[in-house]
Amino acid sequence: MANSAPPPPAAPSPASKLVRIIVVVILALIVLLGLAVLITWLIIKPKQLVYRIDSASVHNFNLKNNHLNATFDLLIKAHNPNSRISVYYDPIEVSVAYDGQTIAFNTLEPFHQPRRNVTRLDATLVARDAALSGALSSDLRVQKKSGNIGLDVRIKARIRFKVGIFKLKHHTLRISCSPVKVQMSSLKNFETASCDLDW
Ligand SMILES: *[C@@H]1O[C@H](CO)[C@@H](O)[C@H](O)[C@H]1NC(C)=O
Ligand SMILES: *[C@@H]1O[C@H](CO)[C@@H](O)[C@H](O)[C@H]1NC(C)=O
Repeated sequence: MANSAPPPPAAPSPASKLVRIIVVVILALIVLLGLAVLITWLIIKPKQLVYRIDSASVHNFNLKNNHLNATFDLLIKAHNPNSRISVYYDPIEVSVAYDGQTIAFNTLEPFHQPRRNVTRLDATLVARDAALSGALSSDLRVQKKSGNIGLDVRIKARIRFKVGIFKLKHHTLRISCSPVKVQMSSLKNFETASCDLDW
């Protein structure tokens, strides 16, 4: 009679019962939290902000001995397509660059953009005796003859979203528009330039 009976099943100890209850409660909370996030997302339906350069021209352009004086006029279109999110912009830094070199820079006033709103921002950027490399100078000279110069417009903004009564934390928004064909004369038709967003 070597065959012994299998050991009787261990009765669940009160401790393991407690562990099971805790696991079930945690799983339930995770599911509820997930549902809450999903429902909030569906209600708010966040949409990407959209930026575009609507016009860009340069005047008082004077390039001498690899130094540049110029005034750039940009019209930036900022579109907030969200129906439940408004945007607070802190000072907005706008710069124009050529081949990685910043030529002119300016800071725009903070503003609050309501929901479903298009705001056009006027930016005037002045290059005063900006030192350029020899290669860049000759490039600009050649481009100027063609009636426009291809530049990059970069925008850096600290923003906060407001959803209902909640103001969310600050974000730094980096917007890059390239190429922007800046016109030597503001009379010609401008080819609008779309912008890429980087969070
Ligand atoms: C730019 O303007 C300043 C005066 O505002 C002048 O001294 C300088 O020579 C000018 N530079 C060029 C390249 O025209
Ligand atoms: C967009 O918001 C700006 C600034 O808050 C306001 O001046 C402008 O009238 C709004 N535009 C539209 C189309 O609602």
